[in-house]
Amino acid sequence: MHISPSILAANFNDLYNDVKDLKKMGCNYLHIDVMDGHFVPNISFGPVVYKGLKKQLDMIFDVHLMIDNPRFYAAKFVEAGADIITFHLEAVKDSYEMINYLKQLGVKVGISIKPKTNVESIEKYLPFLDIILVMSVEPGFGGQTFMESAIEKIQVLNDLRIANKYTYLIEVDGGINQENASLCKNAGCDIVVAGTYIFKAIDREKTIKGLLKL
Ligand code: DX5
Ligand code: ZN
Repeated sequence: MHISPSILAANFNDLYNDVKDLKKMGCNYLHIDVMDGHFVPNISFGPVVYKGLKKQLDMIFDVHLMIDNPRFYAAKFVEAGADIITFHLEAVKDSYEMINYLKQLGVKVGISIKPKTNVESIEKYLPFLDIILVMSVEPGFGGQTFMESAIEKIQVLNDLRIANKYTYLIEVDGGINQENASLCKNAGCDIVVAGTYIFKAIDREKTIKGLLKL
């Protein structure tokens, strides 16, 4: 199981120091939540916030765009050091075009679906994707409660992957803790995003070790 800690829950007064040991603790990915106040009712940050970090950290920068018109901004996020760009199905008109555009920019491509969006609505894109990000909360805020409906979606995506020999990774995002991460893993999940659970943990290393054991 891979862990992608979400910096949304990190200490922005001292961001580098708060994230610099995550790799040593076993996290290969860093999850970067971009919110624009339009697609979601919250504003986080833009590419300048992680551009410097990318030079200092040897991690896979997993950028989750919760923004309207991600096509317009994508190149800026790639230039700043994104390794993966995940956009929302609900935010674009032509997902095929968006996938191709991101591939041309040289990044891995992910698509995300909100809790009310079903797996069928992304089925035709599955052969072309590197990551499927299943939202287990309504996007917009950290610290919410995990929605069980995500488990079934992971299971369906895993079944489709096996049946069709697809190569995407399945990632889950929102309200993750040790118990629900275990359910996600058993359903076929490859990467868990965790914000609050990691950054607000009393013993961060132990918390990460627990997830890595899954
Ligand atoms: C929600 C974000 C999540 C969030 C996860 O809109 O996409 O990545 O930061 O935070 P926790 O783990 O606290 O739910
Ligand atoms: Zn996210």
